Amino acid sequence: MKLILGQTLSFIADPFAETPEMSALWDRRSGVVVDDTTGTIIEVGPADTLKRLWANADIEDHGDGLILPGFIDAHAHYPQTGIVASWGKRLIDWLNTYTFPEEARFGDPGYTAEVAARYFDIVLANGTTTTASFCTIHPESVGAYFAEAQKRGMRVVGGKTCMDRNAPDDLRDTAQSAYDDSQRLIARWHGQGRLTYAITPRFAPTSTPEQLEALGALWGEHPTCLMQTHLSEQTEEIEWVMGMYPEATDYTDIYDRFGLLGEGALMGHAIHLSQRERARLLEAGASLIHCPTSNTFIGSGLFDMAGLRAAGHRVGLATDTGGGSSFSMLRTMAAAYEVGQLRGTALHPAQLLWLATAGSAEALGMTGVIGTLAPDAEADLVVLDLASTPAIAQRADRAESIWEQLFPTLMMGDDRAVAATYVAGQRM
Ligand code: GUN
Ligand code: ZN
Repeated sequence: MKLILGQTLSFIADPFAETPEMSALWDRRSGVVVDDTTGTIIEVGPADTLKRLWANADIEDHGDGLILPGFIDAHAHYPQTGIVASWGKRLIDWLNTYTFPEEARFGDPGYTAEVAARYFDIVLANGTTTTASFCTIHPESVGAYFAEAQKRGMRVVGGKTCMDRNAPDDLRDTAQSAYDDSQRLIARWHGQGRLTYAITPRFAPTSTPEQLEALGALWGEHPTCLMQTHLSEQTEEIEWVMGMYPEATDYTDIYDRFGLLGEGALMGHAIHLSQRERARLLEAGASLIHCPTSNTFIGSGLFDMAGLRAAGHRVGLATDTGGGSSFSMLRTMAAAYEVGQLRGTALHPAQLLWLATAGSAEALGMTGVIGTLAPDAEADLVVLDLASTPAIAQRADRAESIWEQLFPTLMMGDDRAVAATYVAGQRM
């Protein structure tokens, strides 16, 4: 048994539906009891009570540190680790100039393993305990990703990126090979320990109708898998793809026609949506994944968080590294706040934090499993230092509530604010 002490903060309701006070549980001197053997949370409660009840537990006391559920990055591209922050392009040129040449290197198993290891070391240092990542078209890139996650005990989602057109020769599969490779990878990795496979057509412009059809059929055969792709990120992209699928009503309809819309569909970006698309995405139960640092970095547009959450959409939060300019979910929450401001809504720190934890968990269909501090949930935790730099400390010092104390770290914090990360109860 392990007793981890500090401040604790977690959600019992959705802060987009309830007030921050009604939706969150905060305790200034509290603790989390973790079962080391199962990696799950046994109990959360006042520090003094837990110390008495669990007198034999190993105590790790973080003082004023804020214990939260580990951050969940619901959309990323680990193979783009090496090209994060590449200058000067919008989406299609950015893919052709920087992304595709880098992804072509992942046919080399040595390079793939090296980047996967580096990626997980970086995200864990940033307090992220779950990632949902695209891999490359190479099956080896999926094996390396899952193997490195498994080594660290992490709950992750991943899948082979499928592309059979509008990509360089060495980055194209076919409808059949995408189906066969993905099926083999599902058999090898899906449901092994904490690993979830996501069937992964990159986006409609890089798949033929035959490939989307094959992957839709595969998802039908493996309904416990997730499905991840991109939707309506940039206006040029939408124009381009609609020229390829003239029979489709809109971008969402392309995926819908091939059985690639439904619960468990993770639609990255989802910025430029018509009313029809919003209604259909809601009805289908798809998850929309907001990637704010990417949307500003590549110049894509402003996600309608307030409108989509009010309508009842499932929304997760994500870095989209390397289109996103950061591995940090703190920086990502800051960018979500800024995008909200540009759309006229100031997101409350409770809403930002919920998106990075319980909201992303819900988007991945993992509510109650991760993203919460509650009995039986998996003990993936991050401990934040709310005074990690002099600038943050002097601002937090005059705070009169936990939200005011937390907000400067959400806006100005980085990996220096991450005092500890726990995966399944183990300190990383
Ligand atoms: N659309 C298709 N592929 C990508 C990608 O790798 N990154 C982003 N941001 N958008 C995409
Ligand atoms: Zn992406």
